[in-house]
Amino acid sequence: MTEHLNPPKPHASIILGIESSCDDTAASVLCDGKILANVAASQSVHEQYGGVVPELASRAHQSNIIPVIDQALKQAGVTTDSLSAIAVTQGPGLMGSLLVGNNVAKALCIAHQLPLIGVNHLQAHVAALFIDHEVALPMLCLLVSGGHTQLIWVEGIDQMEIIGTTQDDAAGEAFDKAAKLMGLGYPGGPLFDRLAQTGDPTKYSFPDAQTQGFHFSFSGIKTALLYFLRDQQKADAAFLDREMGHICASYQRQIVVSLMKRLDKAIKERRPASLGLSGGVSANSALRTAFLQMGTHRNLPAYIPDFAYCTDNAAMVAMAGYHRFLKGDFTALDETPYARAAH
Ligand code: KG4
Ligand code: ZN
Repeated sequence: MTEHLNPPKPHASIILGIESSCDDTAASVLCDGKILANVAASQSVHEQYGGVVPELASRAHQSNIIPVIDQALKQAGVTTDSLSAIAVTQGPGLMGSLLVGNNVAKALCIAHQLPLIGVNHLQAHVAALFIDHEVALPMLCLLVSGGHTQLIWVEGIDQMEIIGTTQDDAAGEAFDKAAKLMGLGYPGGPLFDRLAQTGDPTKYSFPDAQTQGFHFSFSGIKTALLYFLRDQQKADAAFLDREMGHICASYQRQIVVSLMKRLDKAIKERRPASLGLSGGVSANSALRTAFLQMGTHRNLPAYIPDFAYCTDNAAMVAMAGYHRFLKGDFTALDETPYARAAH
């Protein structure tokens, strides 16, 4: 056991957070709201398939979860005996993946007589914004990941309402699917971002979908790219290779414009005190710039979590769990994980 320089106080609230909803196995230790450790193991096994393969994800979680938890506890300088509770992502996500994290969390709770806190993955992404910021409330949060694209009205860390969502693909999926069409690797988002920096974002135009309220839609833009590439390649086989940077920049620009348009509409109608950006796609450089500009333009504080808390991580789960722990809001051991947001 490594000695921790500042061992937690004997009566501190120490939460172990566990995340296994998709393809990242993660564990984090939080002491009185401060992160002591944040460990994650990602799964490269999916790269060759161009997307997450659920069965392989469950198996990789099985091999990673104990070492990851062990490492987080060691890094934090605590043992399971000093834990106050265990928070685990209960859903939404891949059922086989969720079962791994939930079963380990339950087993630890039984062995050490700890309360279990089942956390909603989307609420955890919002809780990530509270890790490093004193959030001005109400906050309007744009959650953009590989599985979700939502506008969330946040009154408190555990008090929120989804006011806009995607009708089809998530923003991250729009990047990943486009990258696949263009023969780039998986996940496509980061590669797309890098290539986009070499191109002119105004060279080509892609359509925005017509949606009601604050809802999003990204399946149309992906189909538009498919037909655009097919037609251009027919006339000129070298078109894609030559224009790659411009295509990435133009496509990325339209996704960012679509996101910002709904965000701005919601700001005008709901009048929040601050803005938040969370989820894996918040790593996108064009989106970060546009989001921060929106904050300046609308004179609102605009928060983006540290990158380690943007993509799937367990610190956000522990943070959401910590607030539930303070309220004594626990989860029964016979509760099951849920795959879908509305369960
Ligand atoms: O939140 P996250 O780690 O996992 C989910 O819950 O989905 O988000 C992963 C998504 C992927 O679709 C990935 O392509 C996208 O975030 N992503 C990006 C960037 N970095 C990650 N998309 C665009 N630009 C990036 N730099
Ligand atoms: Zn996520």
